[in-house]
Amino acid sequence: MTRVLTNIRWLATCPADGADDLGLIVNAALAWHEERICWVGPAAELPADYACWERVDAGGRSVIPGLIDCHTHLAFGGWRPEEFAARCRGATYGEIAALGGGIASTVNATRAASEDELYERSLGFLREMMALGVTAVECKSGYGLTVEEELKQLRVYQRLAATLRVSIRSTFLGAHAVPPEFRNDREGYVRLVCEEMIPRVAELGPHFCDAFVEEGAFTPSEARTVFRAARDHGMPLTLHADQLSDTGGAILAAEVGAISAAHLEYASDAGLAAMAKAGTIAILLPFAALTTHVPPLDARRCLRAGIRVAVATNFNPGSAPCYHLPFALWLACCVHRLTPAQALRAATANAAQAIGMSDRLGSLQAGKQADFVLLDVESVDHWLYHVRPNAAQAVYIRGERDHDRP
Ligand code: NIG
Repeated sequence: MTRVLTNIRWLATCPADGADDLGLIVNAALAWHEERICWVGPAAELPADYACWERVDAGGRSVIPGLIDCHTHLAFGGWRPEEFAARCRGATYGEIAALGGGIASTVNATRAASEDELYERSLGFLREMMALGVTAVECKSGYGLTVEEELKQLRVYQRLAATLRVSIRSTFLGAHAVPPEFRNDREGYVRLVCEEMIPRVAELGPHFCDAFVEEGAFTPSEARTVFRAARDHGMPLTLHADQLSDTGGAILAAEVGAISAAHLEYASDAGLAAMAKAGTIAILLPFAALTTHVPPLDARRCLRAGIRVAVATNFNPGSAPCYHLPFALWLACCVHRLTPAQALRAATANAAQAIGMSDRLGSLQAGKQADFVLLDVESVDHWLYHVRPNAAQAVYIRGERDHDRP
């Protein structure tokens, strides 16, 4: 099917190499064939070849690239509202984890859930995310922590990718926490991750490899061992870094050539400088900063250092029980001090780069995937200023309309 979207108020191309540039085109047209964009530009310059294609009327709405949630823990069992309430009363994330709550409690609930149960639940979450304009999602394991349980989570993501048009990047996070059965044998658990989990995960298909580097989780030296094994299996790297304290996570991210590093609330200037030099992208996670009551990272420190910034929901039952990416972008403006234009790039072009998919996602340019969202908004500033339950009027994924609102 070949089609042309016309009557577009403005369109933000968000060029992949555009620094702060939104690539705004007023009175735009967008032509696509099957899954791919063929042409984008001012409607008045639409080439004659495309003018006879089937027209789709945008109704004067504005168009942005499909949003990319580049950091989530989508498949999990149970919830942890009592921990949220305890943190509101003053308990810390670390104290709750030390008492057997936190990640360990979700590991129990996830192990108790069948693969089908996890699949059905994640499918429901994903459908609601797509209705908000999300067209690609990064999904982590890390709540199984045995070979079979980690594979169970990763198979759920494969099944979701086969069912929905949304693009999924799955990430192996065996080094999320040391499971209770290995409490007295950390070395043994790291060996299990490296020697048994990583080879089996690599057989399942391409995956990123992540590690939670933090006091109470994994040391930089343990993470280095895991990353070495992952690299030997061709897995690109990302990490949870400097979330609750400065553990040298940002420096490690640069050292191992991680494509991205998330959280970074406690990252040192030296860590950020190292990330800038290595080209590592910073992923800001405003829900987690707020629900764990840590001072949110001032994104201007990253931007001044020359680091590209992405924003994600970090959807998980502990630190970020919310999958509303536009709301996370609004918070990124309020607490991380991005401008609305920077926030839009952070969830499109930069997010695509953070998950290694910028060859086909994140920008509205010829050759890229036809993933776009029709918004009923006057401007990008207005979109992230007057925050609404859902400003997305229609969502196109791989060239097909996926969601309509009356
Ligand atoms: O990114 N920090 C580690 N992982 C998640 C939290 C996971 C959980 O609490 O279940 C995060 O915030």
